[in-house]
Order: sequence, then C-alpha cells, then structure tokens
Amino acid sequence: MRCFVKQRSKEADMNDDNEDLSKRHSWDAINHPLDGLLSDHELVRKLAATWRGSSDKEVRKQAAGQLLQAIHTHSRIEESVFYPRMRDADEAMIAHFEQEHLKVDDLVATLQGMSLDEPQADRLMSEMLDSVLRHIEQEEKEFFPKLESRDMAPVGLEMQSFEANLIHMQAQISDTGARR
Ligand SMILES: [Fe+2]
Ligand SMILES: [Fe+2]
Repeated sequence: MRCFVKQRSKEADMNDDNEDLSKRHSWDAINHPLDGLLSDHELVRKLAATWRGSSDKEVRKQAAGQLLQAIHTHSRIEESVFYPRMRDADEAMIAHFEQEHLKVDDLVATLQGMSLDEPQADRLMSEMLDSVLRHIEQEEKEFFPKLESRDMAPVGLEMQSFEANLIHMQAQISDTGARR
C-alpha cells in the first residue's frame, strides 16, 4: 500500500495544478477510512454540544435534524461495510456495537417520525445522544486501535462507494419528495 501511496503522490505532484479538492478528499478517504469515521464522530459531538448548549429553539431544531441525518448515514456505512469487514478483529465487540446501533436506530426512527417541537422529542433526543456519545467513545478507544496494523485501503474503497450510492439515493428520494 505504501508503494502505491508514494506512486500516487508523485503523480499528484505532477498534476498539482489541476487536482481538485474532492479528488484529494476521496484519496484520503480510501487510504484512511478511520479518519472519515472519526470526522463523522467529531461532527456528532459538535452538533450534540450545540443542541445541548443552545436555548434558541430554531438552532436546536436545526442541530437535531442534522444529528439525525449524520447518525443515520454513519450507522449505515458501519453496519453495511465497516463492521462486517472488521468483524474478525473482535467478534464480540462488533456484536455489541451492532446491538447498540439497533437501539439507536429505533430512537432515530421514532424521532424522524415525530415533530421535533414535541416535548417528548427532547427527552428521546437526549437519551439517543447519551447512547451515541458513549458508543463512539468506545469505538475510538477500544476498537480502532485494534486495526492499526491493517491495510485499510480495500475497506476504505468499499466504504466510499457505499457512501456515494447512499448519498445519491437520498438525493433522489428528496428530489421525488420535492416534486410531489
Ligand atoms: Fe457505530
Ligand atoms: Fe462510529
């Protein structure tokens, strides 16, 4: 993998002028898929802090909507690609993560089906965030270090194409909804 990276960086030097940012991002996402998961986790932490720290109704509502979307997308990538491919690193821990995802998925689905203005939504959102923040902490501290010596490029490539398809499908669904 390292040779491949070196070769790529030589090409990148030659084409530096016309290399756009999205290409650079996709290259990193393939070789360092854990960085992509970590940046999703950071986004969730930031949005959770905004939701918890603000008293402005609109700000909280917007943060809540973004949280539901971010957690939904992140969970699909982990469940469909990352967990199955990394299961052999610690089967019991992956099974535990999958159980936690099911619980969070239920809460996310309930919240997506209700108005975020309802008083009950605050309690459910808070419960969901407690679970998610504990879960991502455990992924980072107890699971990711187990993957340090692995070649992550194959799973990175798969995660990236899964995410691209998911985003494409979500855009099509919201397009259809907007035309109705
Ligand atoms: Fe997870
Ligand atoms: Fe995660």
